[in-house]
Amino acid sequence: MKIIAVINQKGGEAKTTTVRNLSYILSQKKKKILTIDMDSQGNLTTNSGLLKREVPTIVDVFNGNKNINEVIININNNLDHISNNMAMSDFSLFLEKSSGWTKILKSAINDIDKKYDYIFIDCPPALDFATYNALGVADGIIITLQAEENSVEGISDLIRSINMIRDKDNENLEVLGIVITKFKKSTNLQNQFKELLIQHFDNLIFNTVIRDTIKISEANYNHKSIVEFDKNSNGSKDYIALSKELLKRI
Ligand SMILES: Nc1ncnc2c1ncn2[C@@H]1O[C@H](COP(=O)(O)OP(=O)(O)OP(=O)(O)O)[C@@H](O)[C@H]1O
Ligand SMILES: [Mg+2]
Repeated sequence: MKIIAVINQKGGEAKTTTVRNLSYILSQKKKKILTIDMDSQGNLTTNSGLLKREVPTIVDVFNGNKNINEVIININNNLDHISNNMAMSDFSLFLEKSSGWTKILKSAINDIDKKYDYIFIDCPPALDFATYNALGVADGIIITLQAEENSVEGISDLIRSINMIRDKDNENLEVLGIVITKFKKSTNLQNQFKELLIQHFDNLIFNTVIRDTIKISEANYNHKSIVEFDKNSNGSKDYIALSKELLKRI
């Protein structure tokens, strides 16, 4: 069982979209997948077709009200999900920053039946309680990133946080790769930033680039993966290619 966290402290870099699509595509390849929404916005929960205010969440587990296996919801054949909602903001607000606070998710995941090939964790746009807990338990990290100045700037802070958690809490932590998302191929500036990223991070940048396409927004809006929404779209092709590249890297 491999645990993969999809992170970027910047908002709107396609973390949730990437978790939703990679997990769906791999579940279609007969991999047993669990997704965990660690973002109190609950976007992955909504995108998975669930009503985030009406389902049990990971916070019920953190509070000791439920066992983690009781909050797992089946989405389709090989794909299960653990939800999140605003309750987690309240929870993390009152959480004492005592030693071990980065390991709350890790101890919850310990109790999961070991039937999954991959667990994908969707992180919020912050280096906060939720992201640190995801980094504390993950084996691998995928960073999603737009090829834009403000996005590229934040990457060194992110890498510093990852290194800190690796040294302190989780020596297994490995960056599997950085994926460029919402890429506008016809924009010179985006191509320049892409080249810059490749020069700087070399093999860490996935060869697959996820193109900017309205179909992906529409699929999210319809609470479907892009493959279910439009199998022949560029968005499908890109996420299928990314899933293949990911499998080679793990
Ligand atoms: N390849 C794409 N092309 C066009 N739109 C996209 C693409 N990927 C994601 N989007 C859209 O961009 C927005 C942000 O995507 P998403 O919610 O996945 O990002 P996020 O990093 O999870 O955001 P947050 O930081 O708020 O959690 C959404 O409206 C989504 O539909
Ligand atoms: Mg998100």
